[in-house]
Amino acid sequence: MSRPASLSAAAAAGVAALVAALLLLQPEDVGQGASVSMAETESLRKLREDFRMQNKSVFILGASGETGRVLLKEILEQGLFSKVTLIGRRKLTLDEEAYKNVNQEVVDFEKLDDYASAFQGHDVGFCCLGTTRKKAGAEGFVRVDRDYVLKSAELAKSGGCKHFNLLSSKGADKSSNFLYLQVKGEVEARVEELKFDRYSIFRPGVLLCDRQESRPGEWLVRKFFGSLPESWASGHSVPVITVVRAMLNNAVRPSDKKKELLDNKAIHDLGKADDSLKP
Ligand SMILES: NC(=O)c1ccc[n+]([C@@H]2O[C@H](COP(=O)([O-])OP(=O)(O)OC[C@H]3O[C@@H](n4cnc5c(N)ncnc54)[C@H](OP(=O)(O)O)[C@@H]3O)[C@@H](O)[C@H]2O)c1
Repeated sequence: MSRPASLSAAAAAGVAALVAALLLLQPEDVGQGASVSMAETESLRKLREDFRMQNKSVFILGASGETGRVLLKEILEQGLFSKVTLIGRRKLTLDEEAYKNVNQEVVDFEKLDDYASAFQGHDVGFCCLGTTRKKAGAEGFVRVDRDYVLKSAELAKSGGCKHFNLLSSKGADKSSNFLYLQVKGEVEARVEELKFDRYSIFRPGVLLCDRQESRPGEWLVRKFFGSLPESWASGHSVPVITVVRAMLNNAVRPSDKKKELLDNKAIHDLGKADDSLKP
């Protein structure tokens, strides 16, 4: 691409991302299972211990992505599961000693039925899959963010998964006019129909991370949020590590709710709940 062409592509991506960010600037979704009490915060350490004793197994979809790789690292650091499996389209190079017991299942997402065995025998599943319209086109985006996610959830359910965790997005709404929010809302609803024993949906605002892949649009959005007052920015964005800790703090606390919806605020609250417990 010539320099002016690449500059205008970056500018277009920036404008598109800013529009997307502005779409997220709407009143907070009403979350359930959201608040975390002081007593719960204090008992997180105990909850983790109890959880470890149960020797559960877990799979992660999207472990090569920004959220998925932080989730994997945190799962290993907290030692929560007796077996950790990554399900992805390529094998990841995991050199460090900490990763030596991580299993990897390489699958073809276009033929997932042929890989049903990869989804068998996991108690808990985390789905951090996703692409962008810019990267995959509208059709490709729907294929990944709806079809791959839904098929994976179906196979996980058949394989015995009890607790499915879906990383969705703030503003997800199956009747939205915006493809991104519509697809997120639709997949949330269709996974719910599978009737997992426990289904937790996370709806973060803009994810704050130092993305490895170059996404000028997202960079611009992060700068935009960086320029806002802290209280306002935190209403619409969240660091990836906070999302990950919220997912794990939620997973270790028993729940009799079949479905939990954690909005951006609930993610902040729950994700930071254990700061005082960190060594
Ligand atoms: N970015 C935000 O601000 C934001 C805000 C709210 C919600 N979300 C949602 O949060 C989720 C995670 O976001 P993220 O930024 O952590 O994701 P990410 O860094 O883009 O990672 C996406 C993951 O999905 C996999 N993937 C993408 N296309 C695939 C394909 N065609 N076939 C198989 N696997 C594919 C990637 O695998 P490879 O490494 O092999 O490509 C990677 O593991 C997404 O659903 C996203 O929509 C994002």
